[in-house]
Amino acid sequence: MATQTTSIHGEWSGKLAFILAATGSAVGLGNIWKFPYITGENGGGAFVLVYLLCIALIGIPIMMAEILLGRRGRQSPMNTMALLAREAGGSPAWKLLGVMGVIAGFLILSFYSVIAGWALAYIERAATGAFTGLDKTGVEQLFSGLVGDWEKLLGWHTLFMALTVVVVARGVRKGLERAVSILMPLLFVILVLLVGYAIAQGDFSRAVDFMFKPDFSKLSGEAILIAMGHSFFTLSLGMGAIMIYGSYLPSHVSIGQVTLVVAIADTVVALLAGLAIFPIVFAQGLEAGAGPGLIFQTLPLAFGQMPGGVVIGTLFFIMLTFAAWSSAISLIEPAVTWMVERTPLERTSAAFAAGFIAWLLGIGTVLSFNEWSDVTWLGRTFFDNLDFLTTNILLPLGGLLICIFTAWVMRRKDVLDELELPDGALFELWHFLIRFFAPAAVVVIFLNSMGLI
Ligand code: PHE
Repeated sequence: MATQTTSIHGEWSGKLAFILAATGSAVGLGNIWKFPYITGENGGGAFVLVYLLCIALIGIPIMMAEILLGRRGRQSPMNTMALLAREAGGSPAWKLLGVMGVIAGFLILSFYSVIAGWALAYIERAATGAFTGLDKTGVEQLFSGLVGDWEKLLGWHTLFMALTVVVVARGVRKGLERAVSILMPLLFVILVLLVGYAIAQGDFSRAVDFMFKPDFSKLSGEAILIAMGHSFFTLSLGMGAIMIYGSYLPSHVSIGQVTLVVAIADTVVALLAGLAIFPIVFAQGLEAGAGPGLIFQTLPLAFGQMPGGVVIGTLFFIMLTFAAWSSAISLIEPAVTWMVERTPLERTSAAFAAGFIAWLLGIGTVLSFNEWSDVTWLGRTFFDNLDFLTTNILLPLGGLLICIFTAWVMRRKDVLDELELPDGALFELWHFLIRFFAPAAVVVIFLNSMGLI
């Protein structure tokens, strides 16, 4: 029942454990690989501004709602939604929100693992000194040599998926979380170091202008949709991952406080990644809109030229892999908890089954960088379509439904109880944001991107 205070799948030892795990989920390829490249593709400043507004006014309020639902239901997203709908007298169909999350998780993990495979491949390259002395063409060739070869990509994708499944299956999560709690701060230090290098060697002022001087003429309806979608993707919202993590959160921890810590850490990492990359892009005459290969072409140039680049580069790609790993386990978690609750499978077989499905789907992404690179649908490759469908449609839709459920279906008193916020101005502000502002913004941005308004 909703009054139950602990989850059958376990509980965090406390606030800090939750913050570490949720930050582990949030900080990943989205921050370091995706944020810079979509910023580059969408013209910079105005896009960054919309993204920051989306984090503050849509992402943070929805993250609070998603954690709140998880903690009150304390089960897989599907059963949590069914339980809370019953409690509030709503329709049992709300559990479809959980189903949608499981599907989105599979789809995202399938391409996430392929990109994380690139990071794995680059650990080897960095460590063997492959970047030393490379120029612009050299790094471009190095990158296309990897993504143009589907066998290599498949190998790295398989290795990354295996790593993910093993951690989820064997429940060695605690080990990974402990490792991440050391490696994430190290990743942060390396990013700061790279920003320092970019200030010294790159075109820093042009990069700052590019990222922070909004030029609204470059902002299309689709760019706004991408910025909003990314605010869901980067905070791991709208598909049940944060709901599950919330279900392990002890009662009486302030949801607002933990959300703020996670969201700020996530945003700072993304901005640092941008500040490390764009000065090098501009100084070396690279293309800001180079697409998914951006960091894999920019950073090797820097590592190849800086003193100690072999060590720093290797460490960087190791950290990036760990950051992706701790996000990947949260992508598969909704499916695994659901299978454990609903099928005869125990955790180990459920993890293997889920990993296998995502791995199989991932082959489409592997091929879309080589054999299928000319095969497009609606002007996008297989990978671009998957990314668009999940990030820009499924996650915001999940977020929209979370808002509607929390603000319009649940009883206000239950919401207030669970949130642990005093019944005052802050609560009212949050309630207004999830009741009116966030759902309206999501709908308006959707319609606007389709050219309907
Ligand atoms: N937030 C992760 C990242 O930025 C990706 C992710 C999305 C993880 C959705 C879980 C759920 O890399």
